[in-house]
This record gives sequence, structure tokens and C-alpha cells, in this order.
Amino acid sequence: MTRSIEPLAGARIAITGGTSGLGLALMDELLARGATVAFIARHADRVATVAASRPNAVGLVGDIANKDDIYPLALQIGGVLGGLDVLVNNASSLGSVPLVPLADTDCEDLEAALAANLLGPFRLTKALLGSLTAAARERGGAVVLNVSSDAAIEPYPLWGAYGASKAALRHLTRIWNAELTGERVRLLSLDPGDMDTPLHALAVPDSDPAGLKAPAIAAREMADAIAAALRELRELSSPHVAAHARSGA
Ligand SMILES: NC(=O)c1ccc[n+]([C@@H]2O[C@H](COP(=O)([O-])OP(=O)(O)OC[C@H]3O[C@@H](n4cnc5c(N)ncnc54)[C@H](OP(=O)(O)O)[C@@H]3O)[C@@H](O)[C@H]2O)c1
Repeated sequence: MTRSIEPLAGARIAITGGTSGLGLALMDELLARGATVAFIARHADRVATVAASRPNAVGLVGDIANKDDIYPLALQIGGVLGGLDVLVNNASSLGSVPLVPLADTDCEDLEAALAANLLGPFRLTKALLGSLTAAARERGGAVVLNVSSDAAIEPYPLWGAYGASKAALRHLTRIWNAELTGERVRLLSLDPGDMDTPLHALAVPDSDPAGLKAPAIAAREMADAIAAALRELRELSSPHVAAHARSGA
């Protein structure tokens, strides 16, 4: 059976952590659907390599866990994309590696996980909210996807710093989504499942990659969810705006 792929033609999308794992696979899926993408990661050499072979992607160097990087990144995103329809908060930190029980977790490792997984997405979303609400007014909808984990729900031993930060991000997403319903900005929290990525290998070094999901599969699911949310929001707004957005503007 042929699977229909919902396009994202003309969508302006920013994604954190676009140089590896899910972020890289999701960027390629979004580009293939017609989006223009700005992606962020810390290592400049890798950002340059990834950007070099993707004409519709612009790489930005920054650390979302660093408060001082957020406004410069938000300004650059606005500058290179000329507006923003979708923000994907994907970059993440495990906290301490190897994973240890909470009693052995340094406060600094908990802080690092919260900085990357909760405060970073919060600050970046807040800094870009004006662009997202403007896109929602002009095009009928905007979406923020916060990448979650089953560790946000299940109390897995050893996953304390990461799990607590992802649980907080998940709840923050739900509250913010409720607050922004009237603005036609939808916030999604999605768990990609256990994937064969460097982050997973770092957390569970002895896992068998054959039993893990390919990032490209999770990327398709996430792109489908983004496209469906944008479509629903636009259909709820005026038919005129929906038609305008479908035409690729
Ligand atoms: N892999 C899994 O099994 C799994 C399961 C459930 C949920 N998830 C979630 O899926 C998302 C992607 O994970 P992944 O496995 O694809 O990770 P990954 O392969 O380790 O990739 C992480 C990406 O984020 C960037 N990054 C990391 N910290 C950053 C920071 N502070 N600022 C900016 N960029 C940063 C990395 O580049 P630099 O190092 O250059 O910054 C890289 O591009 C995460 O939110 C993770 O929690 C993963």
C-alpha cells in the first residue's frame, strides 16, 4: 500500500540538535517535504558539514543550555527564515553518564539536564513566541514540538535527572498548549521511542542496535504529526488562510 506523505511546502522550521540522530533524520524528512530549516548544534565543524549538502537548511552554532545563546539564536532564526511556523525542541542531555542512581547524582548533573531539556526549550520557545504567533495569525497556525521520552512517564531507575527533566518538559508543554489555544499555536510532546542514536548508545552501551528504531522512522512520525497539526489549525481558521497555506505560501 502506498503511504501518502503530507507536504510541508513553504514551512519555516527551526530544530535544535540537527546534526545527529533524530534531529538530523527529522531535518531531512522536513526538507524532503518542502520545508526550509534552520538547525542548531554546539559543534561548529559538524554544523558546517551537515549544512554543506543541504541547500534549504541553514546551520546555526549555539548551546541551548546556555542562557546567553538563546536570544542570538532566536534573532538568527528570524533572520535566516524570515518568520517561523514550527519550532522543534529536540536537543537533549542525559545529565550524568554513565547513568547513576539519584543518590549518586551530582547537583550539577541535574542542573545540566534541566538546563538542556527544560530551561533551553522554555527560553527558546519564549524568545520565538512572537514569530510563532505572527505566523499563526498570517498562515492559520504554528506548532512547537517538544521531543519527549517514555522516561518522562516511567520511573526508570538510573534515569532520574533525564526523566525528571523530560517529565517537567512534558507538563510544561501541556500547560503552554492550553494557554495558547486561542492563539492557534499548538504545542506537542511526542516520544520517538528507543532509537539507534549516539545518545542511546551513551545511555545504554550494551543495547543491541538491531532492536532499536531507526531515527528515520521516528522522523516520519514526527513530521506527520507536525503536518497534521498545522493542517488542523489552518482548517479551524478561515478557509481563506487554509487555501493560502496549501498553495505553499
Ligand atoms: N535515542 C533514543 O532512544 C531516544 C529515546 C527517547 C527520546 N529521545 C529524545 O530524542 C531527542 C534526540 O535524541 P538523539 O538520540 O537523536 O540524540 P543525539 O543523537 O545525541 O543527537 C543530539 C543532537 O543535539 C545536539 N545537542 C546536544 N546538546 C545540545 C545543546 N545543549 N545545544 C544545542 N544542541 C545540542 C547534538 O549536537 P552537538 O553535540 O554538536 O551539540 C546533536 O545534534 C532527544 O530529545 C532525546 O531525549 C531519544
